[in-house]
Amino acid sequence: MKKAIIIGATSGIGKALAALLIENDFQVGITGRRTNLLEEIKSTNPNRYFIKSFDIKEVSQINQHLNDLTLELGGLDLLIISSGTGDLNEKLEFEIEKRTIDTNIIGFTAIADWAFNFFQNQKHGQLVAISSIAGLRGNHLAPSYSASKAYQINYLESLRIKASKSKLPIYITDIRPGFVNTEMAKGDGLFWVSSVEKAANQIFKAIYKNQKVAYVTKRWGVLACIMKSLPSWAIEKM
Ligand SMILES: NC(=O)c1ccc[n+]([C@@H]2O[C@H](COP(=O)([O-])OP(=O)(O)OC[C@H]3O[C@@H](n4cnc5c(N)ncnc54)[C@H](OP(=O)(O)O)[C@@H]3O)[C@@H](O)[C@H]2O)c1
Repeated sequence: MKKAIIIGATSGIGKALAALLIENDFQVGITGRRTNLLEEIKSTNPNRYFIKSFDIKEVSQINQHLNDLTLELGGLDLLIISSGTGDLNEKLEFEIEKRTIDTNIIGFTAIADWAFNFFQNQKHGQLVAISSIAGLRGNHLAPSYSASKAYQINYLESLRIKASKSKLPIYITDIRPGFVNTEMAKGDGLFWVSSVEKAANQIFKAIYKNQKVAYVTKRWGVLACIMKSLPSWAIEKM
């Protein structure tokens, strides 16, 4: 039986992906800060879910938590980073920006590095992270969120190059959703909002195919091409 860890599986995309992995014969370690939600999910299939409650902002503890969870699972083939935070911050309140940076950049990096080193030592594995279409361009309403997602996109590309140079079967998958109907989808004027189930299904297929990059839902790939090619004056008018 294959083993996976999902960071940030108490709700939203991570929770839906965990259920899909269970359906597909995985044992799954799920994490998040809300212990009650982790316990609730575990109670639905106690033999297949393993839980570990921790805050990814507390980076000094991350290696220990991931080592312990992997030991409980009896190995690891796949690690998915679905944890994330992002708030609209028009007034540039630094506490909000810091929380986003600590979670989406510092915590993310500690987890990605642990996973890459683990997979390199065992000579195989797959690291998946849910970045965002928001990482393709700047955003005046949520600057730290879009910048942190740009960081994730670049960091994942760097790890993919590193994996390729190692010649080992280590796969790095960058999932870039548009809008998905979760607590994270904030603000007015949302469009093409996907259900969590549809998004999770498309993400699962991309993981299964070891895809390098996947836009979810697929039509966001078209918008991504347009966004990347827009001149800065057009972005400033948005
Ligand atoms: N929904 C969208 O429209 C959308 C679009 C593009 C990208 N994304 C990305 O998709 C990912 C998943 O988000 P979602 O939409 O599924 O939202 P969500 O339901 O709010 O899920 C976020 C998850 O991250 C965990 N998390 C947040 N901060 C954490 C921390 N400091 N330590 C540990 N865990 C933490 C949460 O668990 P606890 O609260 O229990 O800690 C929760 O399980 C995020 O990276 C988000 O940026 C979402």
